[in-house]
Parts: sequence; structure tokens; C-alpha cells
Amino acid sequence: MAKYKIAWLPGDGVGAEVMEAARIVLDALGFDAEYHHGDIGWEFWKKEGDALPQRTIDLLRSCDAALFGAITSKPAKAAAEELAPELRDKGLSYRSPIVRMRQLFDLYICFRPCKAYPGNPLNYKEGIDLVVFRENTEDLYFGLEFPEFPENLRQLPEFSRIPEKAAVSLKVNTRRGCERIIEAAFEYARKNNRKKVTCVHKANVVRASDGLFLSVFKEVAARYPDIASDDANIDALTMWLLKNPFNYDVLVAPNLYGDIISDLCAQMVGGLGFASSGNIGEKVAVFEPTHGSAPKYAGQYKVNPIATILAAKLMLDWLGEKEMAQRIDNAVAKVIAKGEVRTYDMGGNATTLEMAKAIAAEL
Ligand code: IPM
Ligand code: MG
Repeated sequence: MAKYKIAWLPGDGVGAEVMEAARIVLDALGFDAEYHHGDIGWEFWKKEGDALPQRTIDLLRSCDAALFGAITSKPAKAAAEELAPELRDKGLSYRSPIVRMRQLFDLYICFRPCKAYPGNPLNYKEGIDLVVFRENTEDLYFGLEFPEFPENLRQLPEFSRIPEKAAVSLKVNTRRGCERIIEAAFEYARKNNRKKVTCVHKANVVRASDGLFLSVFKEVAARYPDIASDDANIDALTMWLLKNPFNYDVLVAPNLYGDIISDLCAQMVGGLGFASSGNIGEKVAVFEPTHGSAPKYAGQYKVNPIATILAAKLMLDWLGEKEMAQRIDNAVAKVIAKGEVRTYDMGGNATTLEMAKAIAAEL
């Protein structure tokens, strides 16, 4: 029997291509795993009315970890129109499977390292090395939304200012939810010899939910006197990050701000072709490239697989296979530094699989 059981979720578009690339690297490493394919994505939405079928949920629960490619998402109306005819009048509504997985398995940590590998022509500046801890289940992603705010709730005095026909999305932060992501950020900082944790918020305006995030941050920071801490409003932070990325180290943020700054940080180290993430809970962990399914490139084996290969690296790290994880990191660094094999985003013409093979050859 293999040492690990991995749920293998290619998904849509270029998802399958980048996963094929990651597999080349995992196999070359000699990672001892059995891979179990999981159905997920647009095809299953159209055929079954569910982009994340129950069998895939069961599979995830039975595996040690999951690697996930990408999925296509469309706005609710467009999604409903693509359903198989017999499913159309069932009132099904599309929800992004990745957001559902985060909620279902309580994957409260979204871990997104953004490191500028030396010699990457896409680096904004050499030497950037940021880590984003994004809260992954609450905030504006909590999923309590009203396309039309209900009349009976409008009768409550607190809600009487809401006009008729208003769309309302609730931003829900719990004390425990804030605390556990902030603790995860500080624990990571301590274990990885990081100097500072910065709290990202907008507590001057969003007083209740972001105010809670910031006050819990200050409480937790006091328990880690060995790690420096500060905080910044999300708007100012985006400017300061660009102005001087070296002032930052580990960033911790509520869900939506974390979504935004992780794209900003990714762009500073080469864009989404280099951005990997881990969605981590107590029992289940799903690793993925941060990019989408890029339908316009599907079938061309053109996109950069490094984000997915680095997601595999995060998975190995999380499983405790530190040495193998480090070998992937070193190999990626070598290929980037040599600059001989580059995908289109890096100004080259190597294919997805050529990049994977070049990395495998450096292991
Ligand atoms: C991400 C993505 C997702 C998100 C989308 C695909 C739902 O942008 O993982 O950052 O908003 O969280
Ligand atoms: Mg995002």
C-alpha cells in the first residue's frame, strides 16, 4: 500500500494540463502515493446540477490531502442556462466549488506564499518574500446574501434604513474565526523565523467586523512578543506594498481583503503562474494554483504549471515530507534562474509539460 492517499481533482480548462505537469514532478520525486480522481467542475454542473458531487466530498474526507487544478465559474444566470434541460426547472443555483469546499470542510486557513525566485523576468523586484494568511470561511464569503432584502427583516428597527429592493451581503466575522487564522499566522511566523505579522483591515470604517479582527489581532500579537506586529488599512496597504514590499513579511487578513492582496502579492512575484495556495482545515487540506481555468488557453498546453507544482510542494510540506518539498522548491528555483525554459507568460515558448520536465530534471 502506498504511504499516502491523494484526491486528484483536475477540474476544468487548463486544470487538467497543469495537474498533468504536477504529476510529472511528483512521480520523478518518488512521492509514495495513490491518486484517486475526483469529479469536480463545470461538466458536473451541466450534467448533474452539482459541480461538487457528494461522491467527491466523500473522497476528500477519505484522503490525506487533495490537489486541485481549476474550475470554470459563471454568474448564476449564465450557469442556469447551461444546465441539462431536465434540470432547468429545479431552482438549482451555482456556487463555486472551491468556496463550497472551504465551507464544507472548514478549511479556515488560506495560505499563500509569494516569493520572487531570483532571475524570474516577471519579478516586480528581486528579493520579495511575502506570505499571506487569508481567513477562508467567513467575512463576505460567509454566504448569507439576499438578492432582495426580506420585507420582514426590514421591519426590524436596525434594518429600517435599508431601502426596498436592496441587495444585501452580510460580512460575518466570529471571534473564534478571527483568532484561529491570526494564531496560524503567528505560529507560522515563529516556526519559520519570520520577523513580522501585519494585520490587514478597514476597521476605521467597517467597525464591527473588521474592528473585531483588529482587536483579536492585538490580543494574539501580545502572546507572541518575539514577533513584531503592525496593522494597516487595506487601501493604504495596497499602496505601501507596492512602494516598499520589503517592509512586509507575513500578512493576515479577513477573507475578501486576503483575496485581493494575495493577487497583488502574486503579481509582484510573476503573476498567477507562480501563485500557489493551501486551503487548510483540521481534517482536510486542498492545495491549488491560485489561477482559474483560463478557458481561452484550454487544450493548448501553454500555461505555466509552476503555480500547481508549487501547490504540490505546499502539500508535501503539510504532509510532513519536508525534504521532498524542499527539493521541488530548489528545482523550480534552478529552472527559473537558468532561464532556458520559459513558458509564454515569462516571454518564452516552452509548453506546460516541457516546463514540468525541466523541473523534474533538476530534482
Ligand atoms: C481565489 C479565487 C476564488 C475566491 C474564486 C475562484 C471563487 O479568487 O481562490 O482567490 O474568490 O476565493
Ligand atoms: Mg482570488
